[in-house]
Amino acid sequence: MLKLFRQAFRILEARDVSRVYRLLALSIVAALVEVLGIGSIAPFIAMLTNPELIDTNPYLNEAYTRLGFSDPMAFLSLLAGIVVSIAVIRNVLFMFSQWLSSLYLSLFKHHLSTRLLTTYLAQPYSFFLNRNTVELQRNVVEETNKVIDGVIRPIIGLLTQLITCFLIIALLVVVRPIVALVTLGALGGFYLTIYSLANNRLQRLSVLRRAYRSRRFQLASEALSGIKPLILSGQQQGYAGDFEKNSLSNAIAEAKGAAISAIPRYVVESIAMVGLILFTLYEIIVNGRGTSVLPLVALYLFAGYRLLPALQSLYFNLTKIRFESASFDVVYRHLSDLTGKLPPKRTHDGFELQTGIELSNVSFTYPKAEKPTIVDVSLTIGAKQSVAFVGRSGAGKSTLVDLILGLLETDQGRIQIDGRPLEDAKPSWQAAIGYVPQHIYLSDDSIARNIAFGIDSSEIDHVKVVCAAKTAEVHDYVVNQLASGYDTLIGERGVRLSGGQRQRIGIARALYRNPSILVLDEATSALDNATENVVMDAIQKLSRNLTIVLIAHRTTTVQSCDKIFVLSNGRIVDEGDYLSLSSKSAEFRALANLSKTKVTGR
Ligand SMILES: Nc1ncnc2c1ncn2[C@@H]1O[C@H](COP(=O)(O)OP(=O)(O)OP(=O)(O)O)[C@@H](O)[C@H]1O
Ligand SMILES: [Mg+2]
Repeated sequence: MLKLFRQAFRILEARDVSRVYRLLALSIVAALVEVLGIGSIAPFIAMLTNPELIDTNPYLNEAYTRLGFSDPMAFLSLLAGIVVSIAVIRNVLFMFSQWLSSLYLSLFKHHLSTRLLTTYLAQPYSFFLNRNTVELQRNVVEETNKVIDGVIRPIIGLLTQLITCFLIIALLVVVRPIVALVTLGALGGFYLTIYSLANNRLQRLSVLRRAYRSRRFQLASEALSGIKPLILSGQQQGYAGDFEKNSLSNAIAEAKGAAISAIPRYVVESIAMVGLILFTLYEIIVNGRGTSVLPLVALYLFAGYRLLPALQSLYFNLTKIRFESASFDVVYRHLSDLTGKLPPKRTHDGFELQTGIELSNVSFTYPKAEKPTIVDVSLTIGAKQSVAFVGRSGAGKSTLVDLILGLLETDQGRIQIDGRPLEDAKPSWQAAIGYVPQHIYLSDDSIARNIAFGIDSSEIDHVKVVCAAKTAEVHDYVVNQLASGYDTLIGERGVRLSGGQRQRIGIARALYRNPSILVLDEATSALDNATENVVMDAIQKLSRNLTIVLIAHRTTTVQSCDKIFVLSNGRIVDEGDYLSLSSKSAEFRALANLSKTKVTGR
């Protein structure tokens, strides 16, 4: 538990930790006023039931004469005034601290989730290869809230209530040590017993519930994002059923956790009630006291009225922290293990490839993969050349391109850009690349904003958008077919566009950046031959200043390339231009034949 406390403070930013201290300081003041309020009840009730106390009680008498009172009623009014003022001050303080803690906790959530997303965004591409992004999304938007509501808030509450309980008990000890200690022993012992019984169970529930919640989230996300195949295969029932099972288990785990936290309260209240009645009877019958016991009973009532909820919250918060610890662990681990800062905002700094790209003996194995995907590849790509990688599916084309892009890091060998190691040249290198991935991600936004992707709306250059769209052969479609033209919203991941239109938007996006290197990974695979030719021609026309790296299935696409590399099982098996490969490379001929049968077979 102590470890968790330390970690909890470490997960907060420095300014937030000082906010926690501020809250605690306020709570101590509030608790002191609280105890003062409870303490002021006894003399007031005593005076009410027995006005002669002014003469008999030395303290009251001292106050009465010192303050120059002559009328007992006036003195009583003063006492009443004090009781009321303390109560009002207490409530104002609590209102203020409530407001402050709501504000601070919201700020903590905001800081934590922003920091977690920033941390993820600062990770290299390889970090995401073996991770489920739905899970990461959930950590950012959901688990961070759990961490604040389930761990940070309870810890602040816990400390506050510890102070309150301590002060109230101190007051009771001053008034009647034996009664106070017996009460404390009984109530504290009860809560401690329950907590130690529940501790392990809560921890187990916490882990289970996190697993159920995670699965639930994943099922919903998978089902909805893969709705098309799901409808066709008619497996909706399966998903709904799985979801229901996990959702139910999650609900039950949640209910158990909540019950363990809430139920002891009622037992304790019953014990306290019985205790108070027994105490009163004992004082009246055994000690023979009459109404003179009333002030004490009033004091206990008020003290109990504050102490019991504080004790219950103490216990509640302890169990809550246990219950949410699984969420906390994940967020803590990610925040403390992952380092790295966001790279500065990049703009194309005019980098032009001078000599070219050189790969020497490059090998690469994916994390957790058994075999290397790229094996001992050496090649050069000249500046302003257009080159292509061809090869069967799974040959390693996309992986090789990811290495050249600097998204993945080589295990062996090196990649040089104009003679400089890729690592050193990376910021300007990557900023100079226009990349059209095999799977284009479009956001649910307008066409213009998808083409000028990641650029502030106010900074979008519409002339450039249109120019890029024209080269990518999508301008006519946008202007003639879409009512709102470039402002048309394209739906989630571009559902309102055809596959080929999506690809062309992707190409326009790459061109918008005025790249000096254009990398197309199967970027024209969804286009019909005629459209593909038009797009490729337009791109080739740009190519006087452009280095082009192309991946294609169809060998027709690569006809005009200066050099073609044939990849097989992660190795370059042949290279040359279209004509020489057609005559000398069996693998290339096989690929060309495959694509020919594919074309004619349609
Ligand atoms: N993240 C990954 N972890 C492990 N193995 C991977 C990963 N990504 C790809 N691979 C494997 O690496 C090999 C090469 O994949 P790659 O995507 O480079 O092929 P490709 O030549 O682009 O194929 P395609 O033409 O089908 O796109 C494949 O066998 C694939 O299973
Ligand atoms: Mg690929």
